Amino acid sequence: MNQDRMESCHDHLKITRLPYIPEKIGDLVSFSIRVGIIICLIASISLAIHSTFAKPDRWFPLPEHLHVIQNVSVITIDTIPTNISHIVFGIAGSSKMWHSRSNYSKLWWNPTACRGFVWFDKKPKNLKPDNMLIPYKISQGWTKFRYLHSASAVRISRIVYESFRLGLPNVRWFVMGDDDTVFFPENLVTVLGKYDHNQLYYIGGNSESVEQDVMHSYDMAFGGGGIAISYALAAKLANIMDSCLHRYYYFYGSDQRIWACVNELGVSLTRERGFHQLDIRGNPYGLLAAHPLAPLVSLHHLDQLNPVFPDQSQISSLKKLISAYEIDPARIVQQSVCYDHRRRWSISISWGYTIQIYTSLLITADLQMPFQTFKTWRSSSDGPFTFNTRWMNPDVCQQPSIFFLDQVSEARTGSVTTYKRYADKDGKKCKRADGEVQRIKVSALKLDPEYWKNVPRRQCCNFMDGGSIKDGSVHIRIRKCRPQETITI
Ligand SMILES: *[C@@H]1O[C@H](CO)[C@@H](O)[C@H](O)[C@H]1NC(C)=O
Ligand SMILES: *[C@@H]1O[C@H](CO)[C@@H](O)[C@H](O)[C@H]1NC(C)=O
Ligand SMILES: *[C@@H]1O[C@H](CO)[C@@H](O)[C@H](O)[C@H]1NC(C)=O
Repeated sequence: MNQDRMESCHDHLKITRLPYIPEKIGDLVSFSIRVGIIICLIASISLAIHSTFAKPDRWFPLPEHLHVIQNVSVITIDTIPTNISHIVFGIAGSSKMWHSRSNYSKLWWNPTACRGFVWFDKKPKNLKPDNMLIPYKISQGWTKFRYLHSASAVRISRIVYESFRLGLPNVRWFVMGDDDTVFFPENLVTVLGKYDHNQLYYIGGNSESVEQDVMHSYDMAFGGGGIAISYALAAKLANIMDSCLHRYYYFYGSDQRIWACVNELGVSLTRERGFHQLDIRGNPYGLLAAHPLAPLVSLHHLDQLNPVFPDQSQISSLKKLISAYEIDPARIVQQSVCYDHRRRWSISISWGYTIQIYTSLLITADLQMPFQTFKTWRSSSDGPFTFNTRWMNPDVCQQPSIFFLDQVSEARTGSVTTYKRYADKDGKKCKRADGEVQRIKVSALKLDPEYWKNVPRRQCCNFMDGGSIKDGSVHIRIRKCRPQETITI
């Protein structure tokens, strides 16, 4: 700044700061008039400001329901984000099956965080502490109902009602599942947290097999995949449940009865793609290797399916999957696709589970489509399913190279997972252009559950170290796509 301009500024300030001093009587009169006008002006401005910002109650009373919204304590209770303590689980158990089925709930039930009960027809014999991780209750009053197919379907359909009647404090959601349902509770909380439990919500998924949806209903939440019912809906259901069960005595399943009663309240299904009834036969591999872009909430029918990981039991497979889930719950089985353009390879990663290497360039629209490694539930047919599937060549040497999760470790802000090449007896004989790669190391930041609150976008990946193979191992990083980035071959 130059000297001249600074001085002129100072001069200006001096002039405006000079007080106004009257010299004659005439001046005094005009001075008082001006002061009067200024006082009036200030008064009218402050009146206007007051009427704009002051509590409107006195002059313009609010309708009654808006007063309730103004109740500060009500607001603070409801704006606390939904957490695991707000959910009451109701697991459909049976005294006969609990000894083997309790192995599934043991995988996911955290006794210090989860609330709820497994509901039995009668107390199972020889209950050991090992089977009693989830507290249990005996269903009451269900034998008085008429039924055509099974009495236990009546019993199970009353679990939400009986759970509601316990009157537990601070409940936002009732979540039902079967004794062979494996829940991923952190993701369940993320999904339910998107919805207002004060509204009438009926959330779940339908069957993967079209024949099942046609026979039962596309609009029904299939019970094994899990049914989430908001507190508000549970309260309404409680009023009609028993009379409703009388009306639908001829229905087949418990989930069908709940669906019929929910329909009487005029409520329809909110579908969430992470609930998996798994009405499929065979190997669920294809589905879990190309999971929809949604958090994994549940898996069901695991007793009837091939183990998720080859060459081990289903229980130890699930333990392995859950070991990755525990490090980064929001990311489990989320798919990323990337290319090594120099070698012309395509890579599909299902985080925490499997990686496929194709020695050709396949478009992402194909790679996100599950391989049909399974049949339909009822008739063991090749479809149709409620999603598109890709044919998988039965000749293993024509299939992509498949890697399965081997090790999981937590890094400072994320994770490092390693995947090992898998080949069965026949697969070992294949001559593969990518045969040198035996292990794949994947690093990723922890996926913030907030990611699921907005429209999710698949994450990108790329090879580290220019794609070099060191001691049979390559390193891939999963990361947010750059704003202009596309997944293009
Ligand atoms: C405000 O909330 C508290 C606590 O829930 C309740 O006791 C009180 O009656 C409410 N007041 C009004 C005006 O609704
Ligand atoms: C869950 O929310 C409740 C309020 O309803 C709060 O008291 C509790 O601390 C929260 N728990 C966790 C684990 O954040
Ligand atoms: C369940 O686990 C127990 C050990 O905790 C084991 O003895 C039993 O064989 C398992 N049952 C099934 C069906 O996996």
